[in-house]
Amino acid sequence: MNILLLGSGGREHALARKISSSALCTCLYIAPGNPGTAQHGSNINISVNDFEAIKNFCLLESIGMVVVGPEDPLVNGIYDFFMQDESLQPIHVIGPSKQAALLEGSKAFAKEFMIRHQIPTAAYREFTKDNFGEGIEYLQQHTLPIVLKADGLAAGKGVVIAESHEEAITNFTEMLQQQKFGEASSKVVVEEFLTGIECSVFVLTDGKNYKILPTAKDYKRIGEGDKGLNTGGMGAVSPVPFADDAFMQKVEEEIIMPTIKGIQKDGLEYKGFVFIGLIKVGDDPFVIEYNCRMGDPETEVVMPRLESDLVESLAALKNQELNRFDCLHSDKHAATVMLVSKGYPEDYEKGKVIYGADEIKDSIVFHAGTKIQDEVLQTNGGRVIAITTLANSLQEALQTSKQNAERIQFEGKYYRKDIGWEFV
Ligand code: AMP
Ligand code: GLY
Repeated sequence: MNILLLGSGGREHALARKISSSALCTCLYIAPGNPGTAQHGSNINISVNDFEAIKNFCLLESIGMVVVGPEDPLVNGIYDFFMQDESLQPIHVIGPSKQAALLEGSKAFAKEFMIRHQIPTAAYREFTKDNFGEGIEYLQQHTLPIVLKADGLAAGKGVVIAESHEEAITNFTEMLQQQKFGEASSKVVVEEFLTGIECSVFVLTDGKNYKILPTAKDYKRIGEGDKGLNTGGMGAVSPVPFADDAFMQKVEEEIIMPTIKGIQKDGLEYKGFVFIGLIKVGDDPFVIEYNCRMGDPETEVVMPRLESDLVESLAALKNQELNRFDCLHSDKHAATVMLVSKGYPEDYEKGKVIYGADEIKDSIVFHAGTKIQDEVLQTNGGRVIAITTLANSLQEALQTSKQNAERIQFEGKYYRKDIGWEFV
Protein backbone atom coordinates (compact mmCIF):
# COMPACT_ATOMS: atom_id res chain seq x y z
CA MET A 1 0.00 0.00 0.00
CA ASN A 2 1.17 3.55 -0.75
CA ILE A 3 0.83 5.86 2.22
CA LEU A 4 0.71 9.64 2.48
CA LEU A 5 1.67 11.19 5.82
CA LEU A 6 0.72 14.84 6.45
CA GLY A 7 2.91 17.12 8.56
CA SER A 8 6.46 18.32 8.95
CA GLY A 9 7.59 18.08 12.56
CA GLY A 10 9.39 15.70 14.88
CA ARG A 11 6.13 13.81 15.34
CA GLU A 12 5.96 13.16 11.60
CA HIS A 13 9.60 12.04 11.47
CA ALA A 14 8.83 9.52 14.24
CA LEU A 15 5.67 8.37 12.41
CA ALA A 16 7.50 8.14 9.08
CA ARG A 17 10.21 5.98 10.62
CA LYS A 18 7.63 3.64 12.14
CA ILE A 19 5.37 3.48 9.07
CA SER A 20 8.24 2.83 6.66
CA SER A 21 9.39 -0.12 8.79
CA SER A 22 6.13 -1.96 8.01
CA ALA A 23 6.05 -4.67 5.35
CA LEU A 24 2.61 -3.31 4.38
CA CYS A 25 4.08 0.04 3.30
CA THR A 26 5.14 0.11 -0.35
CA CYS A 27 5.88 3.81 -0.91
CA LEU A 28 5.72 6.46 1.80
CA TYR A 29 5.19 10.11 0.88
CA ILE A 30 5.28 12.95 3.36
CA ALA A 31 3.63 16.33 2.75
CA PRO A 32 5.43 18.59 3.24
CA GLY A 33 7.87 16.66 5.47
CA ASN A 34 11.36 17.71 6.55
CA PRO A 35 14.92 16.41 5.98
CA GLY A 36 14.29 13.74 8.63
CA THR A 37 11.15 12.34 7.03
CA ALA A 38 13.04 12.25 3.71
CA GLN A 39 15.20 9.48 5.22
CA HIS A 40 12.12 7.24 5.22
CA GLY A 41 10.16 8.28 2.13
CA SER A 42 9.65 11.03 -0.43
CA ASN A 43 8.76 14.54 0.65
CA ILE A 44 6.26 16.33 -1.54
CA ASN A 45 5.68 20.04 -1.49
CA ILE A 46 1.99 20.22 -0.56
CA SER A 47 0.54 22.05 2.44
CA VAL A 48 -1.45 19.96 4.95
CA ASN A 49 -4.52 22.15 4.46
CA ASP A 50 -4.53 22.15 0.65
CA PHE A 51 -7.14 19.41 0.27
CA GLU A 52 -7.45 19.77 -3.52
CA ALA A 53 -3.72 19.28 -4.02
CA ILE A 54 -3.77 16.35 -1.58
CA LYS A 55 -6.65 14.82 -3.55
CA ASN A 56 -4.81 15.13 -6.86
CA PHE A 57 -1.66 13.64 -5.41
CA CYS A 58 -3.54 10.70 -3.85
CA LEU A 59 -5.20 9.84 -7.14
CA LEU A 60 -1.97 10.24 -9.11
CA GLU A 61 0.11 8.03 -6.80
CA SER A 62 -2.60 5.47 -5.93
CA ILE A 63 -2.46 6.30 -2.24
CA GLY A 64 -4.32 3.79 -0.05
CA MET A 65 -3.97 5.50 3.31
CA VAL A 66 -3.55 9.08 4.54
CA VAL A 67 -2.11 9.46 8.04
CA VAL A 68 -2.75 12.93 9.44
CA GLY A 69 -0.09 14.24 11.85
CA PRO A 70 -1.31 17.67 13.01
CA GLU A 71 -4.78 18.73 14.17
CA ASP A 72 -5.43 21.50 11.66
CA PRO A 73 -6.48 19.38 8.65
CA LEU A 74 -8.62 17.19 10.94
CA VAL A 75 -10.43 20.12 12.50
CA ASN A 76 -10.80 21.54 8.96
CA GLY A 77 -12.56 18.32 7.90
CA ILE A 78 -10.11 16.31 5.81
CA TYR A 79 -11.85 13.07 6.82
CA ASP A 80 -15.20 14.35 5.53
CA PHE A 81 -13.56 15.77 2.40
CA PHE A 82 -12.40 12.25 1.48
CA MET A 83 -15.68 10.57 2.46
CA GLN A 84 -17.76 12.99 0.40
CA ASP A 85 -15.74 12.54 -2.78
CA GLU A 86 -16.54 9.33 -4.63
CA SER A 87 -13.07 9.04 -6.16
CA LEU A 88 -11.47 9.36 -2.70
CA GLN A 89 -13.80 7.09 -0.71
CA PRO A 90 -11.59 3.98 -1.03
CA ILE A 91 -8.69 5.91 0.53
CA HIS A 92 -8.47 5.38 4.21
CA VAL A 93 -7.95 8.59 6.24
CA ILE A 94 -6.55 8.03 9.74
CA GLY A 95 -8.30 10.52 11.98
CA PRO A 96 -11.70 11.63 13.20
CA SER A 97 -14.46 13.31 11.21
CA LYS A 98 -14.77 17.09 11.44
CA GLN A 99 -17.52 16.74 14.05
CA ALA A 100 -15.50 14.29 16.18
CA ALA A 101 -12.39 16.48 15.85
CA LEU A 102 -14.29 19.08 17.90
CA LEU A 103 -13.08 17.08 20.90
CA GLU A 104 -9.88 19.01 20.26
CA GLY A 105 -11.26 21.92 18.23
CA SER A 106 -13.71 23.13 20.87
CA LYS A 107 -13.02 23.02 24.60
CA ALA A 108 -16.74 23.55 25.28
CA PHE A 109 -17.68 20.61 23.02
CA ALA A 110 -15.13 18.42 24.84
CA LYS A 111 -16.42 19.49 28.27
CA GLU A 112 -20.03 18.79 27.30
CA PHE A 113 -18.95 15.37 25.97
CA MET A 114 -17.20 14.54 29.26
CA ILE A 115 -20.13 15.64 31.40
CA ARG A 116 -22.60 13.71 29.20
CA HIS A 117 -20.55 10.52 29.52
CA GLN A 118 -19.55 10.98 33.17
CA ILE A 119 -15.85 11.23 32.44
CA PRO A 120 -13.94 12.84 35.33
CA THR A 121 -12.86 16.39 34.52
CA ALA A 122 -12.60 19.78 36.26
CA ALA A 123 -15.88 21.59 37.01
CA TYR A 124 -16.50 24.43 34.53
CA ARG A 125 -18.77 27.08 33.05
CA GLU A 126 -18.71 28.54 29.55
CA PHE A 127 -19.22 32.17 28.57
CA THR A 128 -19.61 34.28 25.44
CA LYS A 129 -20.10 38.02 24.87
CA ASP A 130 -23.80 37.43 25.56
CA ASN A 131 -23.30 36.48 29.20
CA PHE A 132 -20.09 38.47 29.74
CA GLY A 133 -21.41 40.26 32.85
CA GLU A 134 -22.42 36.99 34.44
CA GLY A 135 -18.92 35.70 33.65
CA ILE A 136 -17.30 38.61 35.50
CA GLU A 137 -19.47 37.93 38.57
CA TYR A 138 -18.61 34.24 38.35
CA LEU A 139 -14.88 35.02 38.21
CA GLN A 140 -15.10 37.40 41.19
CA GLN A 141 -16.34 34.65 43.49
CA HIS A 142 -14.19 31.84 41.99
CA THR A 143 -11.45 30.25 44.10
CA LEU A 144 -7.86 30.86 42.93
CA PRO A 145 -6.11 30.03 40.70
CA ILE A 146 -8.65 30.21 37.85
CA VAL A 147 -8.19 28.38 34.57
CA LEU A 148 -9.42 30.22 31.45
CA LYS A 149 -9.50 28.47 28.10
CA ALA A 150 -10.24 29.90 24.68
CA ASP A 151 -12.77 27.53 23.17
CA GLY A 152 -11.09 27.07 19.78
CA LEU A 153 -7.62 26.19 18.49
CA ALA A 154 -5.09 28.80 19.58
CA ALA A 155 -1.76 27.16 18.69
CA GLY A 156 -1.33 25.88 22.25
CA LYS A 157 -1.55 29.42 23.69
CA GLY A 158 -5.25 29.57 24.57
CA VAL A 159 -5.00 28.52 28.22
CA VAL A 160 -4.41 31.07 30.99
CA ILE A 161 -3.93 30.11 34.63
CA ALA A 162 -4.75 33.27 36.53
CA GLU A 163 -3.33 33.64 40.02
CA SER A 164 -5.53 36.62 40.93
CA HIS A 165 -9.10 37.71 40.21
CA GLU A 166 -7.74 40.80 38.48
CA GLU A 167 -5.61 38.73 36.13
CA ALA A 168 -8.55 36.44 35.41
CA ILE A 169 -10.89 39.35 34.63
CA THR A 170 -8.30 41.07 32.41
CA ASN A 171 -7.71 37.92 30.38
CA PHE A 172 -11.40 37.07 30.24
CA THR A 173 -12.15 40.56 28.92
CA GLU A 174 -9.32 40.44 26.38
CA MET A 175 -10.48 37.06 25.14
CA LEU A 176 -14.16 37.88 24.77
CA GLN A 177 -14.20 41.61 24.02
CA GLN A 178 -10.87 42.10 22.23
CA GLN A 179 -10.66 38.73 20.50
CA LYS A 180 -7.25 38.00 22.01
CA PHE A 181 -7.21 34.66 20.19
CA GLY A 182 -9.46 35.76 17.33
CA GLU A 183 -12.52 33.62 16.69
CA ALA A 184 -11.06 30.94 19.01
CA SER A 185 -11.83 33.09 22.06
CA SER A 186 -15.38 34.08 21.12
CA LYS A 187 -16.29 31.50 23.73
CA VAL A 188 -14.34 30.95 26.96
CA VAL A 189 -14.36 27.97 29.30
CA VAL A 190 -13.69 28.84 32.96
CA GLU A 191 -12.47 25.85 34.87
CA GLU A 192 -11.57 24.72 38.37
CA PHE A 193 -7.80 24.36 38.87
CA LEU A 194 -6.71 20.78 39.52
CA THR A 195 -3.52 20.10 41.48
CA GLY A 196 -1.60 17.02 40.49
CA ILE A 197 0.88 15.54 38.07
CA GLU A 198 0.18 15.32 34.35
CA CYS A 199 0.68 12.60 31.80
CA SER A 200 -0.60 11.70 28.36
CA VAL A 201 -2.37 8.57 27.31
CA PHE A 202 -2.64 7.67 23.63
CA VAL A 203 -5.34 5.43 22.29
CA LEU A 204 -5.91 4.13 18.80
CA THR A 205 -9.58 3.53 18.05
CA ASP A 206 -11.74 2.34 15.18
CA GLY A 207 -14.77 3.87 16.89
CA LYS A 208 -15.66 0.58 18.59
CA ASN A 209 -12.45 -1.16 19.68
CA TYR A 210 -9.36 0.50 21.11
CA LYS A 211 -5.72 -0.19 21.85
CA ILE A 212 -3.70 1.72 24.42
CA LEU A 213 -0.31 2.93 23.19
CA PRO A 214 2.63 3.61 25.53
CA THR A 215 2.08 6.44 28.03
CA ALA A 216 4.22 9.57 27.92
CA LYS A 217 4.85 12.76 29.82
CA ASP A 218 5.96 15.92 28.11
CA TYR A 219 7.64 19.02 29.52
CA LYS A 220 5.88 22.10 28.20
CA ARG A 221 7.70 24.99 29.85
CA ILE A 222 10.79 26.52 28.30
CA GLY A 223 12.77 26.73 31.55
CA GLU A 224 14.25 24.16 33.88
CA GLY A 225 12.14 23.39 36.93
CA ASP A 226 9.03 23.78 34.71
CA LYS A 227 9.33 27.57 34.70
CA GLY A 228 8.75 30.20 32.05
CA LEU A 229 6.65 30.29 28.91
CA ASN A 230 4.73 27.39 27.48
CA THR A 231 6.20 25.76 24.39
CA GLY A 232 5.07 22.99 22.08
CA GLY A 233 7.06 20.63 24.31
CA MET A 234 10.74 20.51 25.32
CA GLY A 235 11.12 16.80 25.90
CA ALA A 236 9.27 13.67 26.93
CA VAL A 237 9.64 10.34 28.67
CA SER A 238 7.89 6.99 28.23
CA PRO A 239 6.70 5.02 30.12
CA VAL A 240 5.51 7.38 32.88
CA PRO A 241 6.66 5.87 36.19
CA PHE A 242 3.58 6.92 38.18
CA ALA A 243 1.19 5.55 35.54
CA ASP A 244 1.46 2.08 37.05
CA ASP A 245 -0.97 -0.82 36.54
CA ALA A 246 -3.38 0.34 39.25
CA PHE A 247 -3.54 3.87 37.86
CA MET A 248 -3.84 2.67 34.25
CA GLN A 249 -6.69 0.38 35.22
CA LYS A 250 -8.56 3.41 36.57
CA VAL A 251 -7.70 5.34 33.42
CA GLU A 252 -9.03 2.54 31.26
CA GLU A 253 -12.25 2.04 33.24
CA GLU A 254 -13.06 5.63 34.12
CA ILE A 255 -11.77 7.45 31.06
CA ILE A 256 -10.86 5.36 28.01
CA MET A 257 -13.87 3.04 28.00
CA PRO A 258 -16.45 5.80 28.56
CA THR A 259 -14.70 7.93 25.93
CA ILE A 260 -14.93 5.22 23.26
CA LYS A 261 -18.50 4.36 24.30
CA GLY A 262 -19.34 8.07 24.23
CA ILE A 263 -17.98 8.38 20.70
CA GLN A 264 -20.22 5.47 19.70
CA LYS A 265 -23.31 6.72 21.53
CA ASP A 266 -22.97 10.19 20.06
CA GLY A 267 -22.59 8.70 16.57
CA LEU A 268 -19.20 10.32 16.03
CA GLU A 269 -17.03 8.91 13.21
CA TYR A 270 -13.63 8.30 14.74
CA LYS A 271 -10.92 6.11 13.25
CA GLY A 272 -7.66 7.43 14.53
CA PHE A 273 -5.57 8.47 17.50
CA VAL A 274 -7.08 9.94 20.67
CA PHE A 275 -4.60 11.83 22.84
CA ILE A 276 -5.92 12.19 26.37
CA GLY A 277 -4.18 14.77 28.53
CA LEU A 278 -4.61 13.63 32.13
CA ILE A 279 -3.89 14.94 35.56
CA LYS A 280 -3.50 12.58 38.51
CA VAL A 281 -5.16 14.14 41.55
CA GLY A 282 -4.42 11.95 44.57
CA ASP A 283 -4.84 8.52 43.00
CA ASP A 284 -7.47 9.56 40.50
CA PRO A 285 -7.22 10.55 36.85
CA PHE A 286 -9.05 13.61 35.46
CA VAL A 287 -9.13 14.68 31.82
CA ILE A 288 -7.49 18.04 31.10
CA GLU A 289 -7.98 17.86 27.36
CA TYR A 290 -8.56 15.67 24.34
CA ASN A 291 -6.53 15.98 21.18
CA CYS A 292 -7.47 14.16 18.01
CA ARG A 293 -3.89 13.34 16.95
CA MET A 294 -0.61 12.19 18.45
CA GLY A 295 1.42 14.56 20.62
CA ASP A 296 4.70 16.19 19.75
CA PRO A 297 7.26 15.40 21.27
CA GLU A 298 5.37 12.46 22.85
CA THR A 299 5.31 10.59 19.52
CA GLU A 300 9.12 10.68 19.54
CA VAL A 301 9.08 8.44 22.65
CA VAL A 302 5.86 6.52 21.99
CA MET A 303 6.64 5.23 18.49
CA PRO A 304 10.11 3.88 19.32
CA ARG A 305 8.49 1.85 22.14
CA LEU A 306 5.73 0.43 19.96
CA GLU A 307 6.78 -3.05 18.92
CA SER A 308 3.72 -4.01 16.86
CA ASP A 309 3.29 -3.07 13.23
CA LEU A 310 1.59 0.33 13.23
CA VAL A 311 0.37 0.12 9.63
CA GLU A 312 -1.33 -3.21 10.33
CA SER A 313 -3.28 -1.59 13.19
CA LEU A 314 -4.09 1.51 11.15
CA ALA A 315 -5.37 -0.63 8.28
CA ALA A 316 -7.65 -2.47 10.72
CA LEU A 317 -9.47 0.77 11.63
CA LYS A 318 -11.39 0.94 8.37
CA ASN A 319 -13.55 -2.13 9.01
CA GLN A 320 -13.49 -1.82 12.81
CA GLU A 321 -11.22 -4.85 13.21
CA LEU A 322 -8.69 -3.37 15.61
CA ASN A 323 -9.56 -6.06 18.18
CA ARG A 324 -7.77 -8.60 15.97
CA PHE A 325 -4.37 -6.95 16.45
CA ASP A 326 -1.97 -6.71 19.34
CA CYS A 327 -0.37 -3.57 20.59
CA LEU A 328 2.94 -4.60 22.12
CA HIS A 329 5.01 -2.11 24.11
CA SER A 330 8.74 -2.43 24.57
CA ASP A 331 10.02 -2.85 28.14
CA LYS A 332 12.66 -0.24 27.41
CA HIS A 333 12.51 3.34 28.59
CA ALA A 334 12.54 6.18 26.11
CA ALA A 335 13.51 9.79 26.65
CA THR A 336 13.63 12.64 24.18
CA VAL A 337 15.34 16.00 24.57
CA MET A 338 14.35 18.83 22.23
CA LEU A 339 17.00 21.20 20.88
CA VAL A 340 15.42 24.59 20.26
CA SER A 341 16.42 27.91 18.72
CA LYS A 342 17.50 30.86 20.88
CA GLY A 343 14.45 32.98 21.70
CA TYR A 344 11.87 30.20 21.27
CA PRO A 345 8.90 30.16 22.03
CA GLU A 346 9.04 33.87 21.18
CA ASP A 347 10.88 35.28 18.14
CA TYR A 348 13.88 33.31 16.96
CA GLU A 349 16.18 33.23 13.94
CA LYS A 350 16.27 30.46 11.37
CA GLY A 351 18.99 29.34 8.99
CA LYS A 352 21.69 28.44 11.53
CA VAL A 353 23.97 25.65 10.29
CA ILE A 354 23.56 22.38 12.25
CA TYR A 355 26.70 20.34 12.91
CA GLY A 356 27.01 16.76 14.08
CA ALA A 357 23.46 15.47 13.53
CA ASP A 358 24.70 12.67 11.26
CA GLU A 359 27.28 11.43 13.71
CA ILE A 360 24.95 10.29 16.50
CA LYS A 361 24.85 6.51 16.74
CA ASP A 362 23.27 5.62 20.09
CA SER A 363 20.19 7.87 19.88
CA ILE A 364 17.58 8.55 17.22
CA VAL A 365 17.82 12.04 15.80
CA PHE A 366 14.30 13.19 14.92
CA HIS A 367 14.17 16.32 12.78
CA ALA A 368 11.54 18.91 13.72
CA GLY A 369 12.40 22.37 12.36
CA THR A 370 15.26 21.70 9.96
CA LYS A 371 15.86 22.29 6.26
CA ILE A 372 18.58 21.56 3.75
CA GLN A 373 19.70 24.65 1.92
CA ASP A 374 22.74 24.77 -0.36
CA GLU A 375 23.27 21.13 0.64
CA VAL A 376 23.73 22.16 4.28
CA LEU A 377 21.47 21.17 7.19
CA GLN A 378 20.10 24.29 8.86
CA THR A 379 17.59 25.29 11.51
CA ASN A 380 14.12 26.09 10.22
CA GLY A 381 11.93 26.40 13.30
CA GLY A 382 11.75 26.95 17.04
CA ARG A 383 11.92 23.28 17.87
CA VAL A 384 14.80 21.97 15.76
CA ILE A 385 15.74 18.38 16.68
CA ALA A 386 14.44 15.81 19.18
CA ILE A 387 17.06 13.36 20.42
CA THR A 388 15.45 10.11 21.53
CA THR A 389 17.21 7.29 23.36
CA LEU A 390 15.87 3.85 24.21
CA ALA A 391 17.60 2.22 27.18
CA ASN A 392 17.11 -0.21 30.03
CA SER A 393 16.48 2.62 32.48
CA LEU A 394 15.05 6.09 32.22
CA GLN A 395 18.22 7.49 33.77
CA GLU A 396 20.39 5.93 31.07
CA ALA A 397 18.05 7.07 28.30
CA LEU A 398 18.12 10.64 29.62
CA GLN A 399 21.86 10.65 30.06
CA THR A 400 22.56 9.46 26.53
CA SER A 401 20.10 11.94 25.03
CA LYS A 402 21.76 14.77 26.97
CA GLN A 403 25.25 13.68 25.92
CA ASN A 404 24.13 13.70 22.31
CA ALA A 405 22.44 17.07 22.81
CA GLU A 406 25.96 18.38 23.51
CA ARG A 407 27.34 16.79 20.34
CA ILE A 408 24.90 18.47 17.98
CA GLN A 409 25.75 22.13 17.51
CA PHE A 410 24.08 25.20 16.08
CA GLU A 411 24.28 28.86 17.02
CA GLY A 412 21.88 29.67 19.85
CA LYS A 413 21.07 26.03 20.68
CA TYR A 414 19.14 25.58 23.92
CA TYR A 415 17.71 22.51 25.60
CA ARG A 416 16.38 21.56 29.01
CA LYS A 417 18.81 19.45 30.99
CA ASP A 418 16.16 18.44 33.53
CA ILE A 419 13.71 16.42 31.40
CA GLY A 420 12.38 13.59 33.58
CA TRP A 421 13.65 15.35 36.71
CA GLU A 422 10.94 14.06 39.02
CA PHE A 423 11.67 10.43 38.16
CA VAL A 424 15.46 10.13 38.52
P1 AMP B 1 -4.43 22.48 27.54
O1 AMP B 1 -4.11 23.36 26.37
O2 AMP B 1 -5.86 22.27 27.81
O3 AMP B 1 -3.58 21.23 27.54
O4 AMP B 1 -3.85 23.24 28.81
C1 AMP B 1 -2.50 23.62 28.88
C2 AMP B 1 -1.95 23.32 30.23
O5 AMP B 1 -2.67 24.07 31.22
C3 AMP B 1 -2.10 21.87 30.65
O6 AMP B 1 -1.09 21.06 30.18
C4 AMP B 1 -2.08 21.99 32.16
O7 AMP B 1 -0.74 22.11 32.61
C5 AMP B 1 -2.76 23.31 32.41
N1 AMP B 1 -4.17 23.10 32.75
C6 AMP B 1 -5.22 23.05 31.91
N2 AMP B 1 -6.37 22.85 32.57
C7 AMP B 1 -6.04 22.77 33.87
C8 AMP B 1 -6.79 22.56 35.09
N3 AMP B 1 -8.11 22.44 35.07
N4 AMP B 1 -6.11 22.52 36.23
C9 AMP B 1 -4.77 22.66 36.27
N5 AMP B 1 -4.01 22.87 35.18
C10 AMP B 1 -4.63 22.91 33.99
N1 GLY C 1 3.03 18.02 23.41
C1 GLY C 1 1.69 18.44 23.47
C2 GLY C 1 0.95 18.40 22.21
O1 GLY C 1 1.36 17.81 21.24
O2 GLY C 1 -0.13 18.97 22.18
